[in-house]
Amino acid sequence: MTKKINIAIDGPAGAGKSTVAKILAEHLELLYIDTGSMYRALTWKALQQSYDFENKTLISELSSKVVIKLYSNNKNYKVYIDGEDVTSEIRQPEVSQHVSLVAQIPKVRENMVRQQQCIAADGGVIMDGRDIGTNVLPAACAKFFITASIEERALRRQRDLKENGYIISVDKLKEDIAERDFIDENREVDPLIPAKDAAIIDTTGLTIEQVVEKMKNYVIENCK
Ligand code: DC
Repeated sequence: MTKKINIAIDGPAGAGKSTVAKILAEHLELLYIDTGSMYRALTWKALQQSYDFENKTLISELSSKVVIKLYSNNKNYKVYIDGEDVTSEIRQPEVSQHVSLVAQIPKVRENMVRQQQCIAADGGVIMDGRDIGTNVLPAACAKFFITASIEERALRRQRDLKENGYIISVDKLKEDIAERDFIDENREVDPLIPAKDAAIIDTTGLTIEQVVEKMKNYVIENCK
């Protein structure tokens, strides 16, 4: 398998994109890039500086100033903003609640997309996000749109949060996810929609291994 292929993985929050993307990256020896972590890092910074999230100009300016670095060796993924390691901080519920607001600002997206395209310029990348197949890597040889029922997504999120010490009810998580989906799907710039040529995989009721197997077969077929 050539290392120069790029793979795009999109889908709503909690559908299991990052879990399968990391495994697939390891199997195919590709670099895993979680683009959501970039929007999260910026949101964390804005929260730190007590920014008004309605002030799009200020947040746009912040997105032009900050330096976001991602370190990924598949087993170990780290996110830095302005030299500070925020890998766990960006998973805080407060960041999750505000990140959709930040990600809908056109200038913010422009800055993030430019960096993402630079990272993938030489190929060899598996990138997960919301607009990867439609906008960031439209030439990717395999594009996946990973989805799952809202119940299953809320349950998975609850498990992840519990591992990080946060106890949140499934009902609350369903509400948060539905709200985030609505903002992501209805924003004016690069909304969350499957690329026309994306393979849509509903992971409800499937094991991680089953999903990875489907994806691997698709890549073998489409990235020759
Ligand atoms: O995948 P995630 O939950 O960490 O993403 C956090 C937020 O960032 C989510 O609200 C959608 C947004 N996002 C985006 O708009 N475009 C991307 N490429 C990745 C994430």
